[in-house]
Amino acid sequence: MHDIRNIFILTGAGISAESGVATFRGPDGRWEGHRVEDVATPEAFRRDPALVQTFYDARRAKLREIEPNAAHRALARLNAQWPGELLIVTQNVDDLHERGGARRVLHMHGELRSAWCLACDGRTRWEEELSSGPACPGCGAAGEMRPDIVWFGEMPYRMDEIDAALMKADLFVSIGTSGAVYPAAGYVQTARYLGARTLEINLEPSQGSLFFEESRIGRAGELVPEWVEEMLAGLR
Ligand code: OAD
Repeated sequence: MHDIRNIFILTGAGISAESGVATFRGPDGRWEGHRVEDVATPEAFRRDPALVQTFYDARRAKLREIEPNAAHRALARLNAQWPGELLIVTQNVDDLHERGGARRVLHMHGELRSAWCLACDGRTRWEEELSSGPACPGCGAAGEMRPDIVWFGEMPYRMDEIDAALMKADLFVSIGTSGAVYPAAGYVQTARYLGARTLEINLEPSQGSLFFEESRIGRAGELVPEWVEEMLAGLR
């Protein structure tokens, strides 16, 4: 691992599973009982805003009951001790990386604890429900705030920073993601094409498993701390 300086870590729902967060593509193909297209598209929000707001209100409220797990904490340890650059790009909308102690996290699919006002385009840190149609603290408009979540068909956030980090990565690590949703699913190919080493850690081989040089199959809560210890031991 002597040649590795910059590390790019992509995470998905699987890293939060052991904290009690439901993954998206469960055995029944539903997310907390809903079809993804009924709650995670702009069309669904236009059709039935109350359903979508209530759904995300419940996800936001659940954040108060869950805690980061060993995988989040291990990544934070690596983040604190790694001498090169380390960036965590997450598709998750929970705040478990931050609460686990990570320093630099980009939420490419938005965050539950952020509200986006469609009247003034402002973003506000938001802990409460949105279904009751609260007024935007920025402009005062009532009932105009939506979850600050990237839905299907919308452009993921922070793409320029993500591309720049991918260009510089010496090691690309994917943790707990099915590799079903682009653009994140394509990052392994970009990283590898640009010469990075590639590792996936997942409960089962992801859809892009063949693109990784190494796959470690098992629970993130066990395998991520092991991998972090290996990386830190290599520094000693
Ligand atoms: P998925 O639910 O598609 O995939 C989660 C992956 O984590 C699966 O491959 C599981 O096998 C794996 N997994 C489950 N438990 C695990 C554990 N304990 N340890 C390690 N791996 C485990 O979730 P994502 O790939 O994150 O987008 O989904 C990507 C995007 O699709 C989400 O960000 C969301 C969704 O629609 C939006 O909402 C825009």
